[in-house]
Amino acid sequence: MEQRNLFDLSKQLLEGSLHPHEPAARAQALRAVIRYHEWRYYILNDPLVSDYEYDQLYKQLEALEAEFPELRTPDSPTQRVSPDLTEDFATVQHLTPMLSLDNSYDAEDLQDFDEQVKKLCSLDKESDVEYCVELKYDGGTIALVYENDTLVRAATRGNGAAGDEITANIRTLRSVPLQAAFSKLGIAKVELRGEALIRKDVFEKINQKRLEAGETLFANPRNAATGGLRMKDPKETATRGLEAFVYQLGFATDAEGNSVMERFKTHDEGIHLLRELGFKVPQHQAAPHNHLEETRTCKNIAEVVAFCNAWQEYRDEYAYEIDGMVIKVNSLALQAQCGYTSHHPRWAIAFKFKARQATTRLRDVEFQVGKTGAVTPVAKLEPVALAGVTVSNVSLHNEEFIRSKDIRIGDQVLVERAGDVIPYIVKSLEELRDGSEQPVEYPKNCPVCSTPLVKPEDEAVWRCENSDCEAQVVQRMIFHTSKHAMDIEGLGESTIERFYKLGWLHSIADLYRLDYDAVASMEGFGEKSAKNLRGAIEKAKQNPIYRLLHSLSVHHLGQKSSKLLAAEVTHVLELRDWDLERYQEIKDIGPVLARNVYNFFHNEHNTALLETMEQLGVNLRQTEADKKPESAVEGPLAGKSILFTGTLSTLTREDAEKRAAAAGASIASGVSKNLSILVVGEKAGSKLKKAQALGTVDIWTETEFLARVTEAAAPDTSADSPEDGTQLGLF
Ligand code: IVH
Repeated sequence: MEQRNLFDLSKQLLEGSLHPHEPAARAQALRAVIRYHEWRYYILNDPLVSDYEYDQLYKQLEALEAEFPELRTPDSPTQRVSPDLTEDFATVQHLTPMLSLDNSYDAEDLQDFDEQVKKLCSLDKESDVEYCVELKYDGGTIALVYENDTLVRAATRGNGAAGDEITANIRTLRSVPLQAAFSKLGIAKVELRGEALIRKDVFEKINQKRLEAGETLFANPRNAATGGLRMKDPKETATRGLEAFVYQLGFATDAEGNSVMERFKTHDEGIHLLRELGFKVPQHQAAPHNHLEETRTCKNIAEVVAFCNAWQEYRDEYAYEIDGMVIKVNSLALQAQCGYTSHHPRWAIAFKFKARQATTRLRDVEFQVGKTGAVTPVAKLEPVALAGVTVSNVSLHNEEFIRSKDIRIGDQVLVERAGDVIPYIVKSLEELRDGSEQPVEYPKNCPVCSTPLVKPEDEAVWRCENSDCEAQVVQRMIFHTSKHAMDIEGLGESTIERFYKLGWLHSIADLYRLDYDAVASMEGFGEKSAKNLRGAIEKAKQNPIYRLLHSLSVHHLGQKSSKLLAAEVTHVLELRDWDLERYQEIKDIGPVLARNVYNFFHNEHNTALLETMEQLGVNLRQTEADKKPESAVEGPLAGKSILFTGTLSTLTREDAEKRAAAAGASIASGVSKNLSILVVGEKAGSKLKKAQALGTVDIWTETEFLARVTEAAAPDTSADSPEDGTQLGLF
């Protein structure tokens, strides 16, 4: 079957829209698409669907085969754990099969798993099962065999029953001991399971070197790691900076060949032993640069859920790539009671983090005009779930971006959203084209006012230079009232658009002479809202002038440079008299910004507007807050000192401190009577006691802290415009 058809078929299967529904046809379709995705993933290293989507397809097939066992063919993807072995390495049998893990995606799945474990162990529903929760490392899986304290064999996972022998390569990894004193414990032969990984920063360096050498780059650390394990020359492996974490004791026998696994009571004990013997294992203590520990022994499933959620937030800051967590029943006796399926142990489950990549169709490209006239192409996507949010609009930045990625309307595109990063298009999937895709036509004229677009030589964007363009006017008003500018509550994007359409707003001055009776009679408003809006606008009139300066949408004039300017004048209109050199006397104001502000204040249209605003009551005089730019700290925690203690469950320490600083707080180094707020996480110790004893410190939980700072958390994006050029008239 054609790749395009297989891809379409998998989408239909995922949506449940496949017809006909006969089980035999369905099973055949599922087998075909799963094989196809496995080939893309394992052989080409270039998957087309997310892990989550692949898992859903796999589960559908498993469920179908469970219901109709006669449909299960020996070559079904469910009947082997992973793809074929390659011929370059000798094949070795694992001492015990290396199984996969079942997957879970949310708290509910974990609750179900916990219930199932209790059922299998004949425990009542209210009892608690202890779990070890570890990181799910995203690298190359390895099995290590030690005989008489010596590393004798290392292998890849292969198909689960047998793998490729890679001993010579593994010997180059310094984190793998060549000798380990198992014999002290009466163990003669042992097989360990683990993962070979490359640290993210090391990976970046490797790619940088390859770039300089003109070699092809690795897509991600996992590809670099699995490739590194399979080098024909071990010296090559040694250059990859691979490390190995060991997380499972698979098999252990004494000199007579009898199992000694019964000597251990818990999984934890096994890991502890491996640590003592010199292996790199997941750590119970958070390292100073980590805010969460790599493994935690949890008393019950609720603790498991909290730990998994905390890591989901923290994953991007960890040094290695991880794609989830692994939850294991700690007691080996209970593990034995749970047993295995042919595919996975029933005593363990993987918790998969929300997918960061997904494929979807590019329906159309629209062009939006920003407050300074830059025209930005925006991809209109078929809505797709990505790391917890639905994504349907993604910026395509500029023409060069579209051309270099050869993005076409109708394409299937790969979209990524990592951490807090804004979603972006990684690439178009050219192999799925059917010929109906259309190139993106870049407009020659402004899509709003039809003015011919221009592209200044040193810029990447096309620009509408008509500053009276309706789109620009509205965008500037939206920016003017926004949180970082005049901060007028109740006057957001949709209200401004409504007022504008009604013909109430022609310039920002009109915002200060609204007819509040008319506002009150509008649908969705009423007396109270109109009164609140009036209050917010009256308040904004008294703003310090740095806010006003920032709100004027002068290119590159962000909040920081607005503060620098505000500190230099007693009245905004003094800037009319400044020459270019005067601006450049101010440290941190460069020539481009100087020219932009100079042009702005030498345009009569603009200065007349400011005069009108002043007549309407808007403050143009320097206030106390304008005088000292450095100390003009604002936010809900302004002037407070804050300290964090214990383990926070949703934030990393670094993140928490960043948010506190954004809210105006200073970070304290210890508990003293100068401390205003102590935020306590789990396992808070002496600091909490000391603060309680002082009695002057506010003690907050993480939730309380988050509630207080969310308002201030939005980043200042106003000054990061890539634009340059000369501001013409305004409004
Ligand atoms: S335990 C019998 N623990 O995840 C239990 N696996 O589908 C076997 N993996 O490729 C696995 N981190 O290599 C376990 N802390 C961890 C893991 C882990 C990553 C990998 C494993 C396998 C896959 C399971």
